[in-house]
Amino acid sequence: MLTQVIYISSATYPFTDDDLKALLAVARRKNEPLGLTGLLLYANGTFMQLLEGPASAVDACMAKIGRDPRHTGINMLVRTEVEEREFAEWSMGFHRVGPEDCERLPGYAPVFETGFREDSLTRMSDGGLALLQALARDSAAHP
Ligand SMILES: Cc1cc2nc3c(=O)[nH]c(=O)nc-3n(C[C@H](O)[C@H](O)[C@H](O)COP(=O)(O)O)c2cc1C
Repeated sequence: MLTQVIYISSATYPFTDDDLKALLAVARRKNEPLGLTGLLLYANGTFMQLLEGPASAVDACMAKIGRDPRHTGINMLVRTEVEEREFAEWSMGFHRVGPEDCERLPGYAPVFETGFREDSLTRMSDGGLALLQALARDSAAHP
């Protein structure tokens, strides 16, 4: 069994593409040998991340992520055991939410406008999994 977590958080400053590239380069380098995979979303100064792998690796990584001063207000939406990975092909996939996502997924437009904040997510009984899956289709291995 593998452990899968989904959390949301708020960036402590507006991330540029270069900031995101730097974050992802480190995350991917560290995740690969640990068997960690997942998807990171960035929308309006907020993050949503799904991280999955062996429980000990997920917990150790989440402890580090929790101490990272680049974001705050970490809110764990899901922690569950799964048999199969959601994003096996990505040591950390990435998608920056843009206007085209609002057009393609109008039901989520309010979430995209406010970013991933607790009040905008209470409607999601699955903790954001369907949203991650929908955006994964446009995600890339590189930002
Ligand atoms: C939103 C966000 C997501 C992150 N995701 C990961 C990740 O998936 N894997 C990872 O190793 N580090 C991730 N980091 C970075 C860690 O917080 C940390 O800076 C990095 O792992 C290097 O830590 P170390 O030098 O102490 O090993 C993330 C940071 C932020 C702000």
